[in-house]
Amino acid sequence: MKKFFETEIKSNVEVAEKIFRLEVAAREISEISKAGQFVTIKLPAEEFTLNRPFGIAGLDGGILKMFYRVVGRGTKFLSTLKPGEKLKILAPLGNGFTFDPDEKILLVGGGMGLAPLLAAAGQADFADVLIGGKNSEEVKFWISEFKAAADEIFVTTDDGSFGKHGFVTDFLPEILVRKNYSRVLTCGPEIMMRGVAKISGEYELPCLVSFEKRMACGLGACLSCSTDTKSGRKKICKDGPVFDSREVF
Ligand code: FES
Repeated sequence: MKKFFETEIKSNVEVAEKIFRLEVAAREISEISKAGQFVTIKLPAEEFTLNRPFGIAGLDGGILKMFYRVVGRGTKFLSTLKPGEKLKILAPLGNGFTFDPDEKILLVGGGMGLAPLLAAAGQADFADVLIGGKNSEEVKFWISEFKAAADEIFVTTDDGSFGKHGFVTDFLPEILVRKNYSRVLTCGPEIMMRGVAKISGEYELPCLVSFEKRMACGLGACLSCSTDTKSGRKKICKDGPVFDSREVF
């Protein structure tokens, strides 16, 4: 049952230019949440009217881990907060990834879409990850984050400055033939997820996609996150953010 929890910041560190890793002590949230779900953080009401949504990137040891890019006033404010300060967090929200822990999973993500996949890697017995980014700066911190959670890490960059030169979809087929995966989980730009879903379908693998979309209420009340699916219009915050790829593409 979702509700507001009082949490305490453990760390709030810039891991790449304008990208922060935020960790808060939140044992209750970690016990009732799962990978693929998200939370909203309440910022001071006198300055900010809306809560801000953040994907869950980790739930180990009672610590809720999140990543954010500083893009506006809200995230800029968040980046100034220090360990020991308190945060009100509404959790858990949305529907997460569904898989058996003993499945062999391939995670495919780009940019900040790697955050929910990191949480999924932490919950799976076996998970490889294919990381995509524009350049080495964008992928290096993700590699160190996934080191402890993923079995094998594959990397592509658009400019070839790290890993394979190209997009994740260029190398996905050769990875899929190497190992016997039972499921693909993907999160990142929609065009990338469409490509990943299509290729997974060609290899007869179920694929779960997680949408990143700007949200206002995060609770299914404002319709700002609606999207068309094969079974009608759905709210990403309430019906998703995780969907079966066959439902949405
Ligand atoms: Fe308001 Fe989804 S954000 S309905």
